[in-house]
Amino acid sequence: MKRLEEKAPAKVNLALHVTGRQDDGYHLLDSLVGFSSKGDRLIFEPAAVDGFTISGRFAPLLLEESGGENLVLRARDALRRMSEALGHAAPPVAIHLEKNLPLASGIGGGSADAAATLHGLQRLWQSSLSPERLMEIGLTLGADVPMCLAGKPLQAQGIGEHITPVADFPSFGLVLGNPLKPVSTPAIFKRLESRHNPPIGHLPRLGADQRTWIAFLQTLRNDLEPAARLLCPEIADLAALMAGTGALITRMSGSGATCFSLYATEDEAEKACAALLSARPDWYFSASTLMGSGD
Ligand code: C5P
Repeated sequence: MKRLEEKAPAKVNLALHVTGRQDDGYHLLDSLVGFSSKGDRLIFEPAAVDGFTISGRFAPLLLEESGGENLVLRARDALRRMSEALGHAAPPVAIHLEKNLPLASGIGGGSADAAATLHGLQRLWQSSLSPERLMEIGLTLGADVPMCLAGKPLQAQGIGEHITPVADFPSFGLVLGNPLKPVSTPAIFKRLESRHNPPIGHLPRLGADQRTWIAFLQTLRNDLEPAARLLCPEIADLAALMAGTGALITRMSGSGATCFSLYATEDEAEKACAALLSARPDWYFSASTLMGSGD
């Protein structure tokens, strides 16, 4: 019997510019996105009936908040409908989610899980849908799902669906920190002071040098950060604490409250993470590698 595993890496918005708003209320973005080497994990196994189980540090919270409703199940159902419409069988499957990422935290946990479900079931069911078709299904599940399907350093525009891979992005040591206060994405978008900010635009040729990329990232912003700091005052303390560990750059990801810090190596990130955990054992910190274009 086949048993498949998929990683659902944390998404990091290295910069996120809000450049406009569509008539349907969704915001136009221009974002540089990378992915952690760590995240949630999903396991798929053929079964007599559909099943869904959850384990991991954030499983209890997920079960409490969603009562079993989950983007994983919506992704399964959407792919099944599409596969069957194209004449492919989509038999029952037991799905297990290891929920390691904090919820509603700006690093795409739910979107990463949905993307991993589409990849995993596409393999299990051998649905052979094109990457474009998978992206279309992904977008119906959430604006961040297409970028999580891509899973490589990229620039995302539109509401997140126009994706351009970024060449030469180097890997970095990465620390993700979260004060364990969920932040509602729609609430942050509602409180934006300005919805018409300059885009990131066409990327200059930066090569693969870490210092050049850090200097470039420092010219960019996360336009959601001021609104998130108002709604969640812990973000200011968290960002200051993380920046004090010798990080090359510290910034909030997505609509928060997770902040990221970059370091030259994963070893440095591990040391910073240990110091952060001993300063605030009540907060979430995790060290990993921010994957480069060639990883
Ligand atoms: O698509 P997703 O479910 O991830 O988005 C959650 C909410 O965030 C949307 O309902 C919308 O209020 C807001 N959002 C937005 N513009 C985007 C992405 C999300 O306004 N590009």
